Amino acid sequence: MTLSGVLNSPVVQSAEWTSSELDLVCEQVLDCARIDRVLEPHRVIDDALVDRVLQIAGRCAAGEPLAYVLGWCDFDGLRLQVSPDVLIPRPDTETLVQSALEVIGSRPVRLLDVCTGTGAVALSLKARRPEIDVSASDLSPEAIEVAQANAVRLHLAVRFFIADGFEHAGIYDVICANPPYIAEHDSRVDPAVIQHEPRLALFAGLDGLAVIRRLIQDGQSHLTAGGWLLIEHGLDQREAVVELAQAHRWSHIQTLQDLAGRDRVTRMRKPYA
Ligand SMILES: C[S@@+](CC[C@H](N)C(=O)[O-])C[C@H]1O[C@@H](n2cnc3c(N)ncnc32)[C@H](O)[C@@H]1O
Repeated sequence: MTLSGVLNSPVVQSAEWTSSELDLVCEQVLDCARIDRVLEPHRVIDDALVDRVLQIAGRCAAGEPLAYVLGWCDFDGLRLQVSPDVLIPRPDTETLVQSALEVIGSRPVRLLDVCTGTGAVALSLKARRPEIDVSASDLSPEAIEVAQANAVRLHLAVRFFIADGFEHAGIYDVICANPPYIAEHDSRVDPAVIQHEPRLALFAGLDGLAVIRRLIQDGQSHLTAGGWLLIEHGLDQREAVVELAQAHRWSHIQTLQDLAGRDRVTRMRKPYA
């Protein structure tokens, strides 16, 4: 079968891959780049590889996320291992990374990434600012195993530990978190997400704020004076997060938007006095 024959087959079409997902499959399975699809549509593909692509497409068409089928995904230019024990990092979380980079500036800060999952945020920050000291934690031992494997493969020196919230945490200049923030019983969540991604990574109590509330309540005990806490949250949680931050006497409370202009991250500072 030719390259274009495989990619235009009904099974592959039914997988409804985005163009970046198609790039990933072509690159990983067929060893061809986007440009090859244009320049060499008649390239003959080995039968075994055709079968592999059709099998992957079939699983995706049945609802399984491509990242879990391949065992990999890309985040902020890093290729990360994923497993069904961890949330698949979303491009939206790059807003958290950008916001952390802004507060870090050029300082050699000590940083903690709480609720790290695959290690996406911690690893991305370490890759971009090798001079900072990065630690990362998660309640899930399986997630920490995946994050550690990612750090080793990417040669990034990040310290990982298993912890519930700030358990075992030290004192940092910057703490960032993309915690679970979906309310239990929220009927708007994509059923495919609920079926495939870990509940621990998604849901946080009846109002979705159970973990965020603890981070805002306890964060100042783990920050230096003037240190920053940055939290990714749901699109409709800005008001609740800002109210919590005010109630716990944080300063410089500011919500940042993602590229689509949606409220995505709120950051706050520990006052000096
Ligand atoms: C939304 S996922 C985010 C993963 C990663 N930061 C990312 O952006 O891809 C939330 C993560 O928080 C972890 N988690 C849930 N409850 C936690 C808690 N109480 N303490 C620490 N981590 C927790 C989950 O295991 C999951 O890995």
